[in-house]
Amino acid sequence: MRTFVSVDALLDEMTLEEKIGQLGIFADMLRPFAPGINPEMNARNASELTEQIRAGRVGSLFNGIGVEQGREAQRVAVEEARLGIPLLFGADVIHGMRTVFPIPLGEAASFEPALAERTARVAAIEATAAGLHWTFAPAVDIARDQRWGRGAEGAGEDPFLGSAFAAARVRGFQGDDLTADDALLATPKHFVGYGAVMGGLDYNSVEIAEGTLRDVHLPPFKAAIDAGALTVMSAFNDINGVPASAHHGLLTGVLRDEWAFRGFVVSDYTADFELIAHGYAEDERDATRVAFNAGLDMSMQSGLYGAHLADLVRSGEVSIETIDASVRRVLEIKRAIGLFDNPYRSLDAGADAALDLDAHAALARDAARRSIVLARNEGDLLPLPRAGTRIALIGPFAQDRDNLEGCWTLFGDKRLHVNLEDGLRAALEDPSSLDVVPGCAFEAAIDGGLDAAVAAARAADVVLLAVGEPQGFSGEAQSRVAITLPPAQQALAEAVAATGTPIVVLLRNGRALALEGAVRDAQAILVTWFLGSQTGLAVADIVFGDANPSARLPVSFPVHSGQQPLFYNRMRTGRPELPDMTEFKARWREGPHAPLYAFGHGLSYTRFDYAATTVDAARLAWDGTLTVSARITNTGPRDGEEVVQLYVHDRVGSRVRPIRELKGFRKITLAAGTSETVSFTLDRHALAFTRADGTFGAEPGRFDVWIAPASDRGEAATFELLAG
Ligand code: NOJ
Repeated sequence: MRTFVSVDALLDEMTLEEKIGQLGIFADMLRPFAPGINPEMNARNASELTEQIRAGRVGSLFNGIGVEQGREAQRVAVEEARLGIPLLFGADVIHGMRTVFPIPLGEAASFEPALAERTARVAAIEATAAGLHWTFAPAVDIARDQRWGRGAEGAGEDPFLGSAFAAARVRGFQGDDLTADDALLATPKHFVGYGAVMGGLDYNSVEIAEGTLRDVHLPPFKAAIDAGALTVMSAFNDINGVPASAHHGLLTGVLRDEWAFRGFVVSDYTADFELIAHGYAEDERDATRVAFNAGLDMSMQSGLYGAHLADLVRSGEVSIETIDASVRRVLEIKRAIGLFDNPYRSLDAGADAALDLDAHAALARDAARRSIVLARNEGDLLPLPRAGTRIALIGPFAQDRDNLEGCWTLFGDKRLHVNLEDGLRAALEDPSSLDVVPGCAFEAAIDGGLDAAVAAARAADVVLLAVGEPQGFSGEAQSRVAITLPPAQQALAEAVAATGTPIVVLLRNGRALALEGAVRDAQAILVTWFLGSQTGLAVADIVFGDANPSARLPVSFPVHSGQQPLFYNRMRTGRPELPDMTEFKARWREGPHAPLYAFGHGLSYTRFDYAATTVDAARLAWDGTLTVSARITNTGPRDGEEVVQLYVHDRVGSRVRPIRELKGFRKITLAAGTSETVSFTLDRHALAFTRADGTFGAEPGRFDVWIAPASDRGEAATFELLAG
């Protein structure tokens, strides 16, 4: 092992080929965990890869795990390669490693960034114990169209909530000390606009106004970088005709020049190569040139940089200074995480065995119950008594074990997972009071399924109806045209509802769904997303009232699929839907403009009353602050937690303003019968947006402000922002 002096000294010694080697990342054939995930990687065999490492042509590997083989690969890099530069091991650790936490969208429903920080920390502890340094997470794409499948990986439709979760997850992954064995580098992705793909079709193009890009899609990236993220992943999509992975204005203009980002940008999987398919580059050499010169430091998997960068430098189309700048960024991060001093960090053979999996399970259970949204509870059907009630658990998710994790979990340890049946039975005083019937398969009827389900429902006092989307319906490349339940499950719900037995829907979902018929009209609905390892136990905690639901929807649930994209913070139109305008207005012929359940909606087993929103002054001076308050009282029978939400509306702007925008939220705990006054402080920075002239700032004038339990609730107070 060589002695490391400085990044500059190392750079001076490197050949062009060795420099370019640091700018490529390849699938980890040395530690493959599931060769089917990225089939292309099979083409690159392990011994060839070892040879490349030895020759200094590979700087990073991804999506492999294993400490023993990792140490061996690292040994080849540091002992046998000429300059001994350690490898960086990355992987997709999105919502847990062995212990799987709720999908990020579900966890965002907790409205508790501190919770996401804790689960990301545990994911980092488990991931580094498996020999990883770097995760390709958090996904911070704002998803306003629920047809898109990758909304499951992010924090929903709102940039304020999304920014809070982006920052929290980065802090959680990275911890306080980047050189610690359990620090995991974070990668906000996909830069940028990926959540705005047209029609919700994954990989599709994006047409987006500069102001929307800046006010909605960029803020979570900024928040993640401000929280310490040192790498960013570029997106597959184009933005207004320029592919994001070759977008100089974004990769260099915004990231480097405006934000002074000092880390490196890694492409998404073969995104540089895909510039050819985009019709943005003529061939591989051209794709390499435009991507690299735009600011894409590291190429994932295509091999294009290794094949063409040297020639482009020789021809003068790429400058050696640009190469050096990118290599320096990569080496600086390797230095920052302590790899030069300790190349075998996070490759400790004993780390995995030392994991406190019980503590991780306890956190997963808490995170899961804090992610469950009680959307509806007619007649206070929930919580159910734990004894003396005959319960029929009906639906294809009842016993299933393959749809607990949700999308993008490569390393989940299925032995740790608890399904619905096991979790519910464990909570019952008499486990035999639970009758379990699948009723149908995920997408098809099964012989005798409906009859068995109807018989079980008739014999029961209450039905727990476990229906929704299988996990393959969300995630990458899983766009949908209709965000409804598969017809076989809908038919099951209708048949069960016809028995008249009260129904609690246990909805499994990777996005907001358009609920229909008997599912929409069930007496109670629990939105349970994909909750991960502790699914069954967490659902039981909520169903039987050991935990009081406290989550709120981070995405609007539409009435119809055709309302997409539907999000609460939409711009005002000149023809808004008002009660006295019936025909020529922004309306759908077949249904309402409004959602079924708005962003921020969620019930509790207790009730919270909001007194009027008040402001401590009618005017906010340009450099001043304003306090907005409301008194909230728990008027129900139990202690509970409430997500208090602050919304603002700018009445007149140089660009049309959204009807409401979230500007603050706080989860409070109130014992039954008690009250608390919740206050938020506003200043002009909170009111800033990208103005018509492209500058960012607030505009004087009148504002409405709400402290409310959801984005469609509350009475506004008003104030005026005075000019400076
Ligand atoms: C493609 C996905 O878009 C991205 O999110 C992921 O990190 C990479 N593949 C690597 O697996």
